[in-house]
Amino acid sequence: MTESKKTVKRAVVTGASSGIGQASVRALVDKGWKVVGLARREDNLKALADQLGQNFTYEVCDVTDEDSTQAAVDAVLKGGPVKALVNCAGAAFGKDPVATSSLDDWRGMYELNVIGTLRVIQKLLPALKESEGTVLVISSTAGIEPYEGGGGYCASKAAERVMARILRLELIGQPVRVVDIAPGLVHTDEFSLKRFGGDSDRADAVYAGVPDPLTADDIAGCVTWALEQPDTVDIDQIVVRPRAEGSYTKLYRRS
Ligand SMILES: NC(=O)c1ccc[n+]([C@@H]2O[C@H](COP(=O)([O-])OP(=O)(O)OC[C@H]3O[C@@H](n4cnc5c(N)ncnc54)[C@H](OP(=O)(O)O)[C@@H]3O)[C@@H](O)[C@H]2O)c1
Repeated sequence: MTESKKTVKRAVVTGASSGIGQASVRALVDKGWKVVGLARREDNLKALADQLGQNFTYEVCDVTDEDSTQAAVDAVLKGGPVKALVNCAGAAFGKDPVATSSLDDWRGMYELNVIGTLRVIQKLLPALKESEGTVLVISSTAGIEPYEGGGGYCASKAAERVMARILRLELIGQPVRVVDIAPGLVHTDEFSLKRFGGDSDRADAVYAGVPDPLTADDIAGCVTWALEQPDTVDIDQIVVRPRAEGSYTKLYRRS
């Protein structure tokens, strides 16, 4: 391995078009990284590129689509070594009881949060090994503590966490770190809106009265901190919540 591959600061961030992914892109560029963002919405990616300049490039990519992801990864690898993969692409669809929830919602979350994340990891892992790099996933506390109505999302996030943990075990002895960041309540513009099919009243109610939910920038801070540890220090798991949240069901709201 050449020294330049080991010391290169070049990251791929999925879900770069909004929320935690976009904040992670900004934070990494701010710390001197070159970043390639992946997501489906080109307008958002282009606007970000216009703001950030040459240290941010993007590939339009649907991580649930094999050909789209392969094309994006091929383009990324053409551009040079990759030191870190930050998996932020993900979503919740619906909040219905297990007994009546939509199979399509479950399938969609599984395809995106689990299979989509796995697909990108598998394709970039050889390059990450060459650079002694890092696989980082943004999972969720939903993957730790199931809650009513969270069936499909909690199941998919539990699967994502288990996948990261097993990958870590399977890679012991090889020069790759695996980091799992599990956030609690983060107030991003789109996450709850998408979960509730554009119903802004239901989306707003998620954060109503909660003093200082986490922000996308808070999670981006965790991402950059974990990545900037020495290569030999693996931050296996970070569970990060707003101070007002002890668990999903123990959330303080000002009345
Ligand atoms: N917000 C929270 O409270 C919270 C808490 C814990 C964990 N998380 C996790 O954090 C991650 C980011 O959430 P967020 O709050 O930042 O939500 P967000 O703003 O909705 O971001 C989701 C990102 O995923 C991308 N994406 C969705 N489907 C995709 C696909 N098929 N292919 C490629 N990219 C896709 C979206 O971009 P395009 O639509 O442009 O493709 C977007 O950039 C998710 O995995 C979420 O589960 C969020």
